[in-house]
Amino acid sequence: MEKTWICTEDILCGVNEPKDKASPTELEKKHIPVIEAPDRVKKDEPFEVRIEVGKLLAHPNEPGHFIEWIELYCGDTFLGHANFSGGASFPKASFTVKLSHAHGPLKVWDKCNLHGLWETTKEIKVE
Ligand SMILES: [Fe+2]
Repeated sequence: MEKTWICTEDILCGVNEPKDKASPTELEKKHIPVIEAPDRVKKDEPFEVRIEVGKLLAHPNEPGHFIEWIELYCGDTFLGHANFSGGASFPKASFTVKLSHAHGPLKVWDKCNLHGLWETTKEIKVE
């Protein structure tokens, strides 16, 4: 039987976000990163960005199924990366960053070893 690829239906193709942000599914709740950061920051002043995957609904954390890493961007500017082992470390990260200007919203990607890439963004103003 021939396999038909329909990219928009393939969780491992591209970056996943909740289809309905007001009502995420259980799968979406387990994978979307939650960002805690200020709405406004001062130019060149350090601030903290806390990220957690599984905060809305716990994601499995075992060698066969786990969150491999989290990455933080502002727009397309890379800010940080954290790796996790599966079982011994939890998909939480905290980054202290400073911005000289707005590059775009804060953006977090996380990667599940079975369910691919997931994204959350949060608007932030640099004053
Ligand atoms: Fe997963």
